[in-house]
Amino acid sequence: MLSVRDIHTYYGDSYVLQGVTLELVPGQVVALLGRNGVGKTTLARSILGLTPPKRGTIVFKDVDITRMPAHKIAQMGIGLVPQGRQVFGSLTVKEHLQVTARGRGRWNFDRVTELFPNLRSRMRSLAGKLSGGEQQMLAAGRALVANPALLVMDEPTEGLAPMMVRELGRGIESLKQVGTSILLIEQQLAFALRYADVVFIMSKGRIVHRCTPAELAADAQTKARYLGI
Ligand SMILES: Nc1ncnc2c1ncn2[C@@H]1O[C@H](COP(=O)(O)OP(=O)(O)OP(=O)(O)O)[C@@H](O)[C@H]1O
Ligand SMILES: [Mg+2]
Repeated sequence: MLSVRDIHTYYGDSYVLQGVTLELVPGQVVALLGRNGVGKTTLARSILGLTPPKRGTIVFKDVDITRMPAHKIAQMGIGLVPQGRQVFGSLTVKEHLQVTARGRGRWNFDRVTELFPNLRSRMRSLAGKLSGGEQQMLAAGRALVANPALLVMDEPTEGLAPMMVRELGRGIESLKQVGTSILLIEQQLAFALRYADVVFIMSKGRIVHRCTPAELAADAQTKARYLGI
């Protein structure tokens, strides 16, 4: 479904992704872990076409999307739940969902509010008035109503209360059940291990480790070395 092959991505002269290779098969939840500043968000931006790589290729559903403009990549079915949520404070919950709704896929307005019931009672609230957890559900809902085949979630649990983390987890579980593929970028190891099928670890712009969640849970050395745990 998604194949990232040896990509090299820069911000100006700053060389950030130094040869990243990663595979995701349909229906899989792939967790991408790593400390602050190793390049996780840059990988998300590369996949979405926001900061395209200078070298290497990204193939999605057998199409080379490496140099495709971001809006085309979104239309092809890759959705982003950005780090820090990035909702529009002056739009209501309903307006967020209305402006991104696309296609006749599974995720319509009703399904999204079934998935995140908190949003339903907040439909007319301005996003700026929501709690951090509610904003995260909104960021996820906004991505879902475009009916992506692959959802890239960039640190969705960041700053959330435990109850909201659980709700988000239930959301991911439901997405898994209907076969939506997810690239889950995370700092919370326990959360990532609960939902991932495969784990990739990044360090200094490279993938340095690939394993199953069970393998990582049992691997104190790798956790200490790359995740500081
Ligand atoms: N817009 C930018 N311009 C220049 N450098 C950037 C930019 N965004 C990120 N960087 C640098 O690129 C490197 C990777 O950043 P990135 O945001 O991808 O890391 P990350 O793994 O997502 O970190 P975090 O866990 O803190 O979100 C860092 O050294 C960062 O300072
Ligand atoms: Mg990041």
